[in-house]
Amino acid sequence: MPDVSGTPSAHPTHADDHWTAYNAAQVTRDVRATCRRAMDLAGPGAGRTAVDLGCGAGRETRALLEAGWRVAAYDSEPAMLAGVDRSHPSLTAHRLGFQQITELPEADLIYAGYALPYQDRPSFDRLWTLIRTALRPGGLVAVDLFGVHDSWTANGEWTFLTVAEASALADGLIVEHWDEQDEDGPAFSGPKHWHVFELIARRPR
Ligand SMILES: C[S@@+](CC[C@H](N)C(=O)[O-])C[C@H]1O[C@@H](n2cnc3c(N)ncnc32)[C@H](O)[C@@H]1O
Repeated sequence: MPDVSGTPSAHPTHADDHWTAYNAAQVTRDVRATCRRAMDLAGPGAGRTAVDLGCGAGRETRALLEAGWRVAAYDSEPAMLAGVDRSHPSLTAHRLGFQQITELPEADLIYAGYALPYQDRPSFDRLWTLIRTALRPGGLVAVDLFGVHDSWTANGEWTFLTVAEASALADGLIVEHWDEQDEDGPAFSGPKHWHVFELIARRPR
């Protein structure tokens, strides 16, 4: 869970200033377990290409760069990648909303940590198609998804999936990791009920 403490708020927002405050608190935390697990499965970057969608402050982007990946990082937030050397020769930064992305580079690892749900379902489905198209044979996609029990479902602009819908995203892929969390916990905007699916899946060779 993105469990940094903050001022409780009953109404989550996805305005840029919310994400700026959120991301400012993320620079020094540990690399998220789902990203670490995907990196372990993938092996050394060795100059291969990774994509970090909704990269925020760039904690996972930085870890990928350090592991030898070339990274294409995407986020709409003005202060994106504040925790990364933006001049790193293996980094390409794209300040874009998910809705504005028309193509992703071919990649061996596509990571999106607590990011893909923050768009409506048509936009989510469009981006998932781009992700599936960009994934090289043998490549991994590693994402957090929100489920229908999540307390943020009142926000009709975001995407919340049933177990069946989340599983179906991996149709034709080899599931390497799947975990469902359905429990109360902390969030930057205050305590909430989290319903999260962690999915790591591999495109067959
Ligand atoms: C919960 S944060 C996660 C950031 C980072 N991946 C992490 O795990 O700390 C969600 C990120 O998604 C970005 N984001 C949210 N909605 C977006 C959209 N529609 N298009 C692009 N980025 C978006 C936010 O700016 C924010 O950086």
